[in-house]
Amino acid sequence: AHTVGRNADGVLTVGGITATRLAEEFGTPAYILDEADFRARARAWRTAFGTDADVFYAGKAFLSRAVVRWLYEEGLNLDVCSGGELATALSAGMPAERIALHGNNKSVQEITRAIEAGVGRIVLDSFQEIVRVAHIAQSLGKRQKVQIRITVGVEAHTHEFIATAHEDQKFGIPLAGGQAAEAVRRALQLDGLELIGIHSHIGSQIFDMSGFEVAAHRVVGLLKDIRDEHGVELPEIDLGGGLGIAYTSDDDPREPHEIAKALTEIVSRECDAARLRTPRISVEPGRAIVGPTAFTLYEVGTVKPLDGLRTYVSVDGGMSDNIRTALYDAEYSVALVSRASDAGPVLARVVGKHCESGDIVVKDAFLPADLAPGDLIAVPATGAYCRSMASNYNHVPRPPVVAVQDGEARVIVRRETEEDLLRLDVG
Ligand code: LLP
Repeated sequence: AHTVGRNADGVLTVGGITATRLAEEFGTPAYILDEADFRARARAWRTAFGTDADVFYAGKAFLSRAVVRWLYEEGLNLDVCSGGELATALSAGMPAERIALHGNNKSVQEITRAIEAGVGRIVLDSFQEIVRVAHIAQSLGKRQKVQIRITVGVEAHTHEFIATAHEDQKFGIPLAGGQAAEAVRRALQLDGLELIGIHSHIGSQIFDMSGFEVAAHRVVGLLKDIRDEHGVELPEIDLGGGLGIAYTSDDDPREPHEIAKALTEIVSRECDAARLRTPRISVEPGRAIVGPTAFTLYEVGTVKPLDGLRTYVSVDGGMSDNIRTALYDAEYSVALVSRASDAGPVLARVVGKHCESGDIVVKDAFLPADLAPGDLIAVPATGAYCRSMASNYNHVPRPPVVAVQDGEARVIVRRETEEDLLRLDVG
């Protein structure tokens, strides 16, 4: 987060507030989100893509009403993938036409609510859904703008991508075997649908732009086939999200303006070659906007050196507030933030308080040898897919999200209490 620094005592400060004060006021663990940084990143994406393209923030990375208002104010649109995300967006005042609804198995209720609210687009994910959305729209007397999500046979993860003939996964309609073309044929025939474009999402935490290049080539190829077969040029394409962030110093992410330039150049080059009008582009970054803007603040509870192995540092949260290490073998860094230390580094593993040995927050890290119970440590880059994937495993209440800016801190998602947990237990 760009307002992060250290004061004269070596205490971490963010948005002009010390980590020690944040811990005192809000308790630990807590997600501390730098509002200025969030807004700056959102704005950078918006500005990079300009007025000829749209940026849909992917709410699955982290969504709350404050976030929805920031996005609204910074001129971004919003991608939601469930009724709950849709309800959050609408309740915070995001205009429905700036919302896109995603998901591979949207319920009839979710689809109905989205169409009634007037969402800007629904991204169709299967043949059944094409018919389902068309029927619901028609029964409501509406014509719903839709995109069809296709799978282009490219799978990108981090520094690599794989282009295969066929992707063995649940999302989208395969381009291969003429399935996507058939989906377009059906969608164009249904009165309840207005087909506005084609959607492709190739993966997450991607650094290598060549996967997008292959995807854009294949999507534009489909647009050309549609023009040749139906005489219509679809006006939009969405290239999804997936741009990577730096979790550790090994990662070297691209800036939004580089990404925007690369994507718009690829699409217009491909369209020129196919003699198509260049469609309006949209993208759906989640992690790249919110990921770097928050860190998790933990208090150290125990420090257990295991001779010849490593030192286990237990914190007051764990896999319930950050499942990514256990689930994806994700890499994080960590730092002592409540004081300075001259002690030498020891190889440490930061673990949580949950009842299983896979409950690891940071696999390998160096921490000062004098680390002790009561110290505060921070794990950076936990803004994306941490609070949004948090659980109540072991009946541990989920931590709050505290937004800081200009010397002020406010809770935007409050800490769960034992009462919250018990409220659902009606047996
Ligand atoms: N658009 C679509 C259709 C998506 O499925 C996703 C993410 C995004 C946009 C946003 O991707 P992003 O820019 O945030 O990478 N829980 C995993 C990531 C799952 C991503 C799912 N889809 C993780 O923690 O790494």
